[in-house]
Amino acid sequence: NAQEVRPVWTSEQGSMAKQTAETRWAKIIQGTVDDIGETAVAEDVDDQKRAESIAIQIALKNIKKEIEQNKPLTYVLLHGPKRMNSRRFRPLQDDGKPDIQAWNKQLAAIGECSWINCPWLFGECYMYRRIQMILNSSKHWQNYDVFKRQKDSTFVKSRAAVEELASRYIQIVADTGLAQNESKEEAKKLLFIEMTEVALWGNATDLSLLANLTLEDLQNLQGHAAIQKSQRNIVDNDTNDVWTYLQRTTSHANRQIDIVLDNAGFEFFTDVLYAAYLLDAGIATSVRLHTKEFPWFVSDVIPSDIESLFEHLDSSEFFPGRKYLDKLIPRLRKFFQAGAITTTTDPFWTTPFSFHEMPSKAPALFKELQNSYLVIFKGDLNYRKLTRDGLWPHTTTYEEALGPLGKQSGVKILALRTNKSDVCVGVPTQSKVDALNEEAPGSAWVRNGKYAVVSFNEGQ
Ligand code: F6P
Ligand code: MG
Repeated sequence: NAQEVRPVWTSEQGSMAKQTAETRWAKIIQGTVDDIGETAVAEDVDDQKRAESIAIQIALKNIKKEIEQNKPLTYVLLHGPKRMNSRRFRPLQDDGKPDIQAWNKQLAAIGECSWINCPWLFGECYMYRRIQMILNSSKHWQNYDVFKRQKDSTFVKSRAAVEELASRYIQIVADTGLAQNESKEEAKKLLFIEMTEVALWGNATDLSLLANLTLEDLQNLQGHAAIQKSQRNIVDNDTNDVWTYLQRTTSHANRQIDIVLDNAGFEFFTDVLYAAYLLDAGIATSVRLHTKEFPWFVSDVIPSDIESLFEHLDSSEFFPGRKYLDKLIPRLRKFFQAGAITTTTDPFWTTPFSFHEMPSKAPALFKELQNSYLVIFKGDLNYRKLTRDGLWPHTTTYEEALGPLGKQSGVKILALRTNKSDVCVGVPTQSKVDALNEEAPGSAWVRNGKYAVVSFNEGQ
């Protein structure tokens, strides 16, 4: 029964949740402190902005301290004999944004918990909202992205893979006249598999988990050869079912595909390429990309990352090998200019709610997704939200773990996710789970980003 499966808590012994809360969160916050410091000393920053940076850094360091000292998140317990059992609610301060009230309602509902003893999903979302609260409440740092520096520097390191993919796209997809329906069925399917896997493994390089990656590590994760080799590591692979669905429905007039994005930089590049492919191949009639409203889980795409992608791709300093990029970029831009690829954002994506709560908390968004031809959720966090971050047995069906978004939901959901947390469902058999545990002990296959799922449900 879906309701009985607990979401993972940051106090869970041996979990990725605990490890993340204890070791990674403080580092992420320290990264934001350092980033603000670095920006503030730049010559062109005016004095008031520089002065304000000090207060912001102090406020950020306070969050770090709270985490390190495992302070309460929602209620502060009051001590002393008269105050036994009494507690004071700790709301988020009003920072002028419309979501504050909903957050505070949710904080009150969640009950007592602390950083290292809270539902992981909730605590981590809360952390990013707390960071944003500080910036929103400032005068000079309102729209500042504390993670931009990190996003940019990692994207440069993806140079080799970006160029390789650009050449492959131009030669295989564009030059073979794929859109003209000439190619053989089997060849079309193989191309679909390849492009889907490019978008899938693009997710292996998110910044919150792999911040200390060397250039060599990164390049080993990307590129055509790496992707081929990684195919056996897809522990639940529904690519055939997606293909069958797409083939069965080619006559639908409106085939809008929604992609709920994950990370900026290399992954976003693969997603835009995937969107272009879906259009070029005539699979989609339009593609809608969903971004986050503010910096989220370090590297997630926010609206400003879209222009930033093109700025980077246009730069011969960033990407010196231009032979294929110069052909590819105008093609990609055209899709945006013609409205074939559009972007949108919704406040629901930056709430702590799992997607099981979407029908009640964001009914309009839910309805839109029901009307979509296919909704593709990228990455680990989206997968955690799809499955309520639940500690399901790994053989639980994807459909069951989707809860209200599964059976009879009317939403066609494809998750492309490299495994980087505690949850993973849809593994076909227990013997497969046993084999994975032997091959990658200590649940490494659920956590280390080297394994993945391509999970599809038609919502019937
Ligand atoms: O700590 C790891 C983590 O931050 C997870 O909490 C989260 O699920 C993941 O990294 C982010 O990955 P992705 O960018 O694929 O959603
Ligand atoms: Mg992310």
